[in-house]
Amino acid sequence: MAAFPPPSRPRVLITRRIFPDLQARLAEHFELLDNPDDTLWSAAELRARLAGCVGLMCTAGERVDAALLDAHPQLRVVSNIAVGLNNIDLHACAARGVLVTHTPDVLNETTADLGFALLLAAARKLSEAERYLRRGEWTKWAIDQFAGADVHGSTLGILGMGRIGQAVARRGALGFGMKVVYHNRSRLPVETEQALGARWVTKDGLLAEADHLVLVLPYTPASHHIIGAAELAAMKPGATLVNIARGGIVDDAALARALEAGTIGAAGLDVYENEPALHPALLSAPNLVLTPHIGSGSLATRRAMVGLAVDNLVAALDCGPDAGRPPAPAPKPAPV
Ligand code: GLV
Repeated sequence: MAAFPPPSRPRVLITRRIFPDLQARLAEHFELLDNPDDTLWSAAELRARLAGCVGLMCTAGERVDAALLDAHPQLRVVSNIAVGLNNIDLHACAARGVLVTHTPDVLNETTADLGFALLLAAARKLSEAERYLRRGEWTKWAIDQFAGADVHGSTLGILGMGRIGQAVARRGALGFGMKVVYHNRSRLPVETEQALGARWVTKDGLLAEADHLVLVLPYTPASHHIIGAAELAAMKPGATLVNIARGGIVDDAALARALEAGTIGAAGLDVYENEPALHPALLSAPNLVLTPHIGSGSLATRRAMVGLAVDNLVAALDCGPDAGRPPAPAPKPAPV
């Protein structure tokens, strides 16, 4: 009997190395082009590798813009392994009928954990104290040695009160007895505010009241440098700033200057303006805890994110020849 060739399967590009078992799930549905060495591709390399692909699975590190879309009119779905969508030009995708998916919710608690870890580490000078120990400089206990700021019972400010912001608020209110104030473009329903024990304030009010300020808002043109020199000067002198959202929300150079000058007490950063490059002044700024964009970085959560991104791609591309068209409305970034 004549053998029929297998039907050709949609071709999908995965830009970064993912978990082998989750990649195997994708391979059941698609012809996969992958990146087993996990090398960072330039924009030109990404454009070249996307040839013939109808699906793209990418991370926040790859830019999907009009030029890339115009070079690949066959592309139908972009599955981002991230909740943030600032690496993707959503308007350009919507205009070309390209469906964009992301991985919200599964990372809320893990990212809030890292926010709290940075807050505690910065306020209590953990990084500096450990470096001091490792240098062998600890020869005597002293009354004011690495004396930082209390977290318990203080006022927690949150800028951007979406799902992750609310998870940070719960930790502060329930775990550390903190008073919680927040600023968001849209106020939460009163019942949610009451359940969280959180009070809406203006942005100026937030800067003035917070002992510790955590940034959890999406990066958009409106949030670019929303914390700059003026905002840092408006914070309490001993205050802590934590950014677990996106680079570019904080003016990194202004923050380094503010830490040098003692304008605020301490800071913890997980994200940077030009990551993975850091503004050199951050490396020598005092009272600063730095992590390399690991907010969602527990193994379980990274697996959940990749699993969701796989499901999104399969759902969008695997249910018929025209799956992914017509496109759903472009997902909107969470309101600031
Ligand atoms: C990580 O930064 C994400 O947006 O998921």
